[in-house]
Amino acid sequence: MLFNGNEKKIYSTDNPDEVLLHFTDVMTCYHNVKRAKLVNKGKLTSQISALLLKYLSDAGINTHFIAQVGERDQLCRRVTNLPIVFVARNRVAGDMERRFRWEGGERLPITVIDMYLNDGKLGDPLVNDYHIMALGIMTQEELNEVHAIILKANDLISGLCSDAGLELVDLQLEFGRTADGTIIISDEISPDTCRFWDKDTGTRLDKDRFRHDMSDVIASYAKVLECLSKSGTGMSN
Ligand code: C5P
Repeated sequence: MLFNGNEKKIYSTDNPDEVLLHFTDVMTCYHNVKRAKLVNKGKLTSQISALLLKYLSDAGINTHFIAQVGERDQLCRRVTNLPIVFVARNRVAGDMERRFRWEGGERLPITVIDMYLNDGKLGDPLVNDYHIMALGIMTQEELNEVHAIILKANDLISGLCSDAGLELVDLQLEFGRTADGTIIISDEISPDTCRFWDKDTGTRLDKDRFRHDMSDVIASYAKVLECLSKSGTGMSN
């Protein structure tokens, strides 16, 4: 085992360039203050993430995803994760709502990219390009490339969601460097890490249900998988 997280475990494989990601049924939020075990959660997030990462790969965006190898395991390229969490926001929610004391839910006139230093002890502070360069994490050129990838991924997944009767409210992405230094999308894309709403009713179908003690967390994740599976991704559940 290379990494033993609550929601994911990462194992080495016989191939030094590949790792196995295992998705657990544990759900956490508020820096682990709230946690629970929800049966089937890991299967759903793994399968949704596989579907979305494959969709991006097929559209020419480099990701770490290689193959789904079980109900809750996937083979991925080995990367060193950059300690930055990127969020593309299409509507005001969560941290953006709190930071500006804005009414939640408004559609933004442009997609906003927020960046956070992935450091729980510091409370994952919001950072800008200059901070990231000063910390020696990325160059301006790399930041520009990554911002372009985020906007493209956001457009692609927003379109897919729309065809599936869903709306992508925000998209959280992490990136890693491969052995040759190439920066590719890593981690997962699922209702654990992004906000998905029902396009017609605005019903939340993501981790906000768990954060706010709403019912039907797993049924909502299952609905996201069912909608995306039917919507021309070429994959079925
Ligand atoms: O809380 P915030 O509005 O910044 O969250 C933006 C998106 O990133 C949400 O979809 C949320 O689920 C995700 N997120 C995450 N892990 C965190 C913080 C946020 O996956 N530690």
